Amino acid sequence: MSLDEELCKDRFFSPQAAKQYSQKLVGSARDRREKRCIQRAMEYISLLPGAAILDIPCGTGRISYFLADLGYRVIAADYSPAMIEMAKRVSTSSSLIRWEVEDIFSLSYPSESFPLIVCNRLFHHFTQASTRRRALLELARVSQRYVIFSFFWSFSFSGFRFFLRRCFGCADLRDRVPISLHRMREDLEGANLRIVKIFPTRPFLSAQTYLLVEK
Ligand SMILES: C[S@@+](CC[C@H](N)C(=O)[O-])C[C@H]1O[C@@H](n2cnc3c(N)ncnc32)[C@H](O)[C@@H]1O
Repeated sequence: MSLDEELCKDRFFSPQAAKQYSQKLVGSARDRREKRCIQRAMEYISLLPGAAILDIPCGTGRISYFLADLGYRVIAADYSPAMIEMAKRVSTSSSLIRWEVEDIFSLSYPSESFPLIVCNRLFHHFTQASTRRRALLELARVSQRYVIFSFFWSFSFSGFRFFLRRCFGCADLRDRVPISLHRMREDLEGANLRIVKIFPTRPFLSAQTYLLVEK
């Protein structure tokens, strides 16, 4: 297991971390911006309601509930059982969501199980290209065609601020890491995925960016 993979698993594993995370983005402008980007990417591919979507990592279910409210069947998966337990408590249960403990690096699903996979707020925690590529390979394996995922794009004000913080020694290994689109594209090519469309949350301001990619 690589160091960034291990740090990311540890960081969100405890019941305390799950409790904190459940209160973090709910009702915020950032939450609305993220959901708007995901919805725009889904409209682009015209996925019919009722289709199955894998939401990994689901965390405390913020995106899973959103997708279920749009009428999709959601398989909400996360490495942390505490996150899943908290997700079930956050909102009234939905019959459209199935909760599962899964590791993105070794998913238990057969190849080509889902027409779409959504992966929100995970890749910016992976500092090493090899970690990103292993995760992308596994997503490409279980996807029939599309993946929507977020990453932190360095071509932005907050990406530049991170670069300055690192120069002055203020950023540590646990920080979320912006990378260039060129590097992200190389990682995707390593998993035989290609970019269909880019959806920045706030162009040039925020690093948080969504990619719609296909096999
Ligand atoms: C920043 S949270 C994002 C949660 C959710 N996607 C959201 O946007 O609210 C990161 C999540 O990744 C999960 N995670 C970390 N490593 C994982 C892995 N190898 N496989 C699956 N989930 C993982 C953590 O447990 C945590 O719930």
